[in-house]
Order: sequence, then structure tokens, then C-alpha cells
Amino acid sequence: MIKVAILGHGTVGSGVYEVFEMNAGKIARAAGEPVEVKYVLDLRDFSHLPYGNKFVNDFSVIENDPEVTVVCEVMGGVRAAYDFTKRCLLAGKSVCTSNKELVATKGEELLRIAKEKNVNYLFEASVGGGIPIIRPMVQCLAANEFNQICGILNGTTNYILTQMIKNGVAFEDALRQAQVNGYAEADPTADIEGHDACRKICILSDLAFGDKFDPDEVSCEGITKITLRDVECADKLGCVIKLIGRAVRCEDGSAYAFVAPHLVQKESPLAAVEDVFNAIMVDGNATGEVMFYGKGAGKLATASAVCADMLDCMQHRDRRRDIGWGDGSQKLLRPLGGFVSPWYVRFRGERAALEAALPCESVREVDGELAASVNPLSSDELAARLETIRGGVLASMRVLA
Ligand code: HSE
Repeated sequence: MIKVAILGHGTVGSGVYEVFEMNAGKIARAAGEPVEVKYVLDLRDFSHLPYGNKFVNDFSVIENDPEVTVVCEVMGGVRAAYDFTKRCLLAGKSVCTSNKELVATKGEELLRIAKEKNVNYLFEASVGGGIPIIRPMVQCLAANEFNQICGILNGTTNYILTQMIKNGVAFEDALRQAQVNGYAEADPTADIEGHDACRKICILSDLAFGDKFDPDEVSCEGITKITLRDVECADKLGCVIKLIGRAVRCEDGSAYAFVAPHLVQKESPLAAVEDVFNAIMVDGNATGEVMFYGKGAGKLATASAVCADMLDCMQHRDRRRDIGWGDGSQKLLRPLGGFVSPWYVRFRGERAALEAALPCESVREVDGELAASVNPLSSDELAARLETIRGGVLASMRVLA
């Protein structure tokens, strides 16, 4: 019997327990012996549950139990999660997590400790919920240099945007429903302001480019400024609005990384990604574009990835996975001002003024306003040109080329 522990009994933690119960036979076959969840750590009272006797509120019980070899940390946040993860690794236990904030900020150190202790720190569930993306990047696509990663990385915002686009639902109502569905972070600001997607593009960049991308340095814009008018203008230009995380490699090995709302052409496969679904396009220099698609958030989808990582640890007890990246000293992140892309600009004023200021490809009139698709410019160049017509500029967003 293999004994494991779950740190945190929120949406994902309760899902992990449920998957171990629901698929006990399959999991035992894959692990080579039955798996028992010996402890669940949570300060709240869950004594009413059928497995209420498994709850502990003292982490050291788990830390000091040599029977527990694999632990999942699904508490979220960085303070206690960091402390407990580090202590588990130092105690020789493998740790699996869905905690993107912790992986993005402390992953390099935790992976180094895991290596020193010859155990695993795995984090498939930290990006894309139930979508396999980390393991494909470090294994199946390992022989590639990555030219670009581009994706819809947050289920909550994609759900909100889909509701706005398809049903004209107000932002607040759509957010409430995402919370009810268990998609949103404890503080949904992290979703709607783009911080969650930013942590995820940082993790993917760390893996792709081999050095730490700091979420505090990566440009991040969420969806709170998007209006139903922008949704309508995008439609007139043949696009939908999506929150996109991108990392683009430059010839010298440096890279742009950022999160921002984009207009996406309706023909693009990313435009068809709706509701809680995520999709990640990875462009490898040998394989070309590969797209990963599936449920990016939610209890069982995310738990599926956590449990699979735990199984991986059980199956490879003597061979740790060699995953890691540098401490950020290579300074690979390029200032975003130089990144060139096509743009969408919404403007109130004279068409001639708009066309004089910007290299417009097409301009549509929408209820007395102008919606322009603008030929490629760097962010700095766009900002300088918009300055000349600043009184009339209502919105600007990149267009995914
Ligand atoms: N709040 C996150 C999302 C959960 O909506 O995508 C999954 O990381």
C-alpha cells in the first residue's frame, strides 16, 4: 500500500481525493499496488465527511510520517505552501502541485532542493488545468528550440469573455458564475487582471528558455477594461477578443513574454476555444506548431493532472525527472516596447486624423465610432503615434497575426 497526503481541501484538494476514490482500481494497477490517502491537511472542520478521520491540522504529522512518500500541495498562495513544500522535499517526499504562483516564483529553488534530495517536484496541473502541457514540453518536444508559445491560459477569463461575446452577459454576472463553477482563484483579481495567466506564461517560458522569467517583470494586462463595444467592434473586424499569454523567442536567445487581451481572427483555432477551455500553441523549430486543448480549470480536470503527477512519482521512485531552470541571472526578458504586432484601435473623431496618425489597414464605423485594424508597429511606436490623437483614442489592443 502506497500512502500519500493532500495539503489543502479546497476545490482541487477535494477533487484529488475524489479521483483517488473514483479511480482506485485503475490507479492501483498503474502504481503497482493500492494507494491510500492517509492524511488531508486543512484547518477547517471536515469531520462530517465520510473520510473526516483523515484530516489533520498539524503539518508536522505528515512531515514526520515516513510512510508518506508522495504529497500533493493544492493549498494555493506562497507562504505556507512554500514552507510545507520545502519541508516535504527536505524530508525526502516527492511533491506534486497545481500552485502556479509558487512554481512561478519559487520553482527554481524548489526544483533544486528536489534534485538534491533525489525526489520529484512536479507541477503539470499548474498550467492548463487538465491539459497535458508541461510533460509534453519537457519530454515529447524536448529536442526542439521553442520559437513561440501562445495561448489562452485562464479558464475564468475565457469563460467571462465567451459569455460576453455569445450571450451579451454582463462582466460581473459571468464572473460570479465562474466562481460558482469552481474556476476562479480564491481572489478572482488574479484571474481578471491577468496575474494567473502571467504566472503560467512565466512557467512555460522558464521551461522553454531555461531561465527564470519573473512574474513581477512580465507585462500583464487583464480583461477589466474590455467593453461590449470592443466585443462588437472586434466582431465587425472579423475577430473575437481573447486574453492571450505569449512568449516569443528572438534570434539572440532573449524573449518577449507578456499577457494581454488580443483580437484573434475568427479563422484561428484559438478563436474557437470557448468557456473554461484553454488552448496552448507551441511552435517548436523541428516539430512546427502543436496545439494542446482541454479544460483549463475546475475540480476534477485539475485533480486529474495532480493525480497523474503523483502516480508518476510512485512509478519512478528511483529515477527523478530532471526538470529545472536557471535563477534568472541570464536576464532573457526583453522590454515589451520593441515587440512589433498589428493593432486594433477604437477611436472617436475624424477618420482623416486617425488615418494620418496610424497605418490603418481597414477602418469600420460602429455607432459613430471608428474601429481600425492597424498594420504592424512596435508598442513604443504605437504609443507615440496615439499620443498625437490622444483625445479620441478609446481603446487599443494587439491583433494576433
Ligand atoms: N483560476 C484559474 C483559471 C484556475 O481560471 O484558469 C486554473 O489555473
